[in-house]
Amino acid sequence: MTHFLDIHKTDPTDLRAMIDHAAAMKTARDGRPKGALDDDQPLKNYMVALIFEKPSTRTRVSFDVGVRQMGGQSMVLSGADLQLGHGETIADTARVLSRYVDLIMLRTFEEDVLLEMAEYASVPVINGLTNRTHPCQIMADILTFEEHRGPIRGKKVVWSGDGNNVFASFAHAAGQFGFDLTFTGPPTLDPENIFLEEARAKGSKIEIIRDPMEAVAGADLVVTDTWVSMHDSQSAKERRHNQLRGYQVNERLMAAAKPDALFMHCLPAHREDEATSAVMDGPHSVIFDEAENRLHAQKAIMRWCLGV
Ligand code: CP
Ligand code: NVA
Repeated sequence: MTHFLDIHKTDPTDLRAMIDHAAAMKTARDGRPKGALDDDQPLKNYMVALIFEKPSTRTRVSFDVGVRQMGGQSMVLSGADLQLGHGETIADTARVLSRYVDLIMLRTFEEDVLLEMAEYASVPVINGLTNRTHPCQIMADILTFEEHRGPIRGKKVVWSGDGNNVFASFAHAAGQFGFDLTFTGPPTLDPENIFLEEARAKGSKIEIIRDPMEAVAGADLVVTDTWVSMHDSQSAKERRHNQLRGYQVNERLMAAAKPDALFMHCLPAHREDEATSAVMDGPHSVIFDEAENRLHAQKAIMRWCLGV
């Protein structure tokens, strides 16, 4: 079964093909209305379930629009409305859904839920974010970087802030796409070491540098994300803010990166916390291209999963 569960679990040749395919599909739609159907209709006759156990704007809308553009049909389901939220096992849910739909996209909390869904589904499963990783986002980010700056191989990416699920997928991508990655943040919010080791084992230079100004020197791309993720307890908010304040991406920090460095944030953002509006709306920022590219990248991912 061709699941898309994580970037480090997917063959690098396939990942490259998906990025190139996404770019080609984006170009083919240039100037057309959002609701226009793609000419080839590759998902005609395919039914896709989009399951959300956490809130979403971009993932929900971009997957739904992507399926429709490709001629497929989609249903957006909230975890709480399914029997899944009332005690039915994930394994049983996976086997039942596989009798109705051709593809499942799941956003959930524990990674084990995603893995169990994939184990028992007889149709492909796509990871739409877990507490640990967010691979669809980083596929869109690679597409975004490359359309602005060319191949990401050998470039320096710096992550400032919380070592969270989005960082983890950047680390996976560093290994698979061959770029270097520096994490700068407080030791209490370091990423899991396994993510760093996996990328290092594939030859990427992966560093932790505590001083953010030092970390961004030579950066081609500076990335941050919310200081409090959906799975984090809200009671930790104030403590996290105190720990992360020094890692805000502001104009001073961007000025310490390469002059043509890009700025990314997967959104949703808390303006003036992890990044200032001056940066988010400034000349380095490509945040809305990232959001758009979720659509194109995920269309390529769905086609890869379905082999169409
Ligand atoms: N970046 C992202 O996944 O956004 P949503 O939570 O709105 O889907
Ligand atoms: N790290 C964030 C990403 C949201 C798209 C979260 O998990 O809430």
